[in-house]
Amino acid sequence: MMPFLDRPLHHPKIVVKDTVQQLAQHVAGIFAEAITDNPSIVLGLATGQSPVGTYQELVDWHRRRGLDFSRVTSFNLDEYVGLAADHPQSFRYFMQQQLFDPTNIDPDRTHVPDGTHDDLSEHARQYERAIERAGGIDLQLLGIGTNGHIGFNEPGSPPESRTRVISLSEQTIAANAPYFPSIHQVPRRAITMGIGTILEARQIVMIALGSNKAAAVAEAVAGPVSPSCPASCLRTHANVTVVLDHEAAAGL
Ligand code: F6R
Repeated sequence: MMPFLDRPLHHPKIVVKDTVQQLAQHVAGIFAEAITDNPSIVLGLATGQSPVGTYQELVDWHRRRGLDFSRVTSFNLDEYVGLAADHPQSFRYFMQQQLFDPTNIDPDRTHVPDGTHDDLSEHARQYERAIERAGGIDLQLLGIGTNGHIGFNEPGSPPESRTRVISLSEQTIAANAPYFPSIHQVPRRAITMGIGTILEARQIVMIALGSNKAAAVAEAVAGPVSPSCPASCLRTHANVTVVLDHEAAAGL
């Protein structure tokens, strides 16, 4: 791939929706159409609040309209280090609840990094190889952190970074603390696809909801392209759609 600094810049397509449900329906529509067009599609998936409605809509597509996940392959962006698959705050657990268990996706085709692996660096390399073997990611779903992170690529992450173990920023730990009994229980490290890994997806859809994302969205879409806002690196990709509610779009 061309060195990061030499890459041409693009304008992401911006879609602003009036309600969270309309936003979820729009994003689910993009995914449902892509799965219908290519039943063996390779999806990149995100966890967190932003995609919850989208997953509900996709489950609805499966139940009511027979959307078939049986040949879909998925790779999640990230996982906390130290949380096992059955830990209620693990991203594997989240995915099982939100999308995998309620659809007919083949469990063997779902991939979430294993935060309990005893050799995380080797596991990260294996994860990259598994994505490659699957033919690369066709359609990647993203959220954005209040600090502009994508996956768990915190500000300062190299644009060419690959799947690896990272230390979470204090801002990210604080943002995720409400989901744990106390801030001290939030893992301080995670394993995440790199920015370079994400940018190799053929198509990217990023969701942002709420006023606390407005500054990060404005910086990502209209600020300088810089590792200090990892989501700004998406502007080196020619096929990115950013789907927002009015609150998240307020800085544009
Ligand atoms: C989740 C992920 C993160 C989140 C981001 C926003 O897999 O990689 O980048 O997308 O932290 O989280 P929410 O959607 O909870 O605001």
